[in-house]
This record gives sequence, C-alpha cells and structure tokens, in this order.
Amino acid sequence: MTMHQDLLDESALALKQAYAPYSQLFVGAALRSANGKMFSGCNVESGAFSIGSCAERNAIAAAVRAEGAGFQLTAIAISATDRAGKFLAIPPCGACRQMIKELGPNAEVLFLGASGEIIHAQIGDLLPHSFQLETL
Ligand code: THU
Repeated sequence: MTMHQDLLDESALALKQAYAPYSQLFVGAALRSANGKMFSGCNVESGAFSIGSCAERNAIAAAVRAEGAGFQLTAIAISATDRAGKFLAIPPCGACRQMIKELGPNAEVLFLGASGEIIHAQIGDLLPHSFQLETL
C-alpha cells in the first residue's frame, strides 16, 4: 500500500467518467488539498479538438470551486486506461504541470511508470525552470 493510495484509487474511479470519444484515452485525476479534502476530475473532449480539457485541470477546477482562491494542492494522482480498461503510463502533460505547480509548488505527483511501477515525483522536478508571473 503506497502513500496516497486513496488518491490513486479515486483517480481510477474518476477515469471511468471520462468523455473521450476521440482519443479513447480515459484519464482520471484525484488531488488532496492542504485542508485534507479530496477532489477529482476526468478528461472531457470536444469535436472541436483543441477545447477539450485534461483530467488534472478539471480536478483543480473542482477544488477551486469548493475551496476558493486559497486552495493549495498537496498531492495529485493520475490514472489512465485505453478503451479496453488496460492501465497505461500517462504522465501529466506540460500544461497540467504548469497549473499544478502554481497551486501546489511542493506538490507530490503520482502516476504509472513505463514498467508498471508507481512514480512519486515532486512537481519541481517535473517542471524545472518554470514560468512564474513574479518573474515578469
Ligand atoms: N489528457 C489528460 O487528461 N491529462 C494529461 O495529462 C494528458 C492528456 C487527456 C486529454 C485528451 O482528452 C486525451 O488525454 C488525449 O490527449
């Protein structure tokens, strides 16, 4: 039993709700806020492809709706399957890394690695030298 197993389990439930008729990649994300609450999201696609949204950012949107602008992200787990339900190694995309880091500069990120292991990474290691508004 790994730390944040509840987040991994919840992300695997969330992906079952995905609307992904185009890619057939079903992604779920579950995060924990600094208040200890869990929020989840799934990917939602569109026939106008570029306006679809990722599971991670949808989970963040749910958390901000519930906790407001003070929301802080401590950990997030991502799970993904193909249409047959086979789990796939899907690390978070660059845009999601950017948003995770802004709301959780020390966040732990969990996802399946290429050899079937669970990777536990720090967001700072996944997105070094990142853009921050303060640097403008
Ligand atoms: N996707 C996510 O939900 N999260 C990621 O980090 C990577 C990609 C979704 C977006 C799209 O619906 C599908 O996976 C294929 O790109």
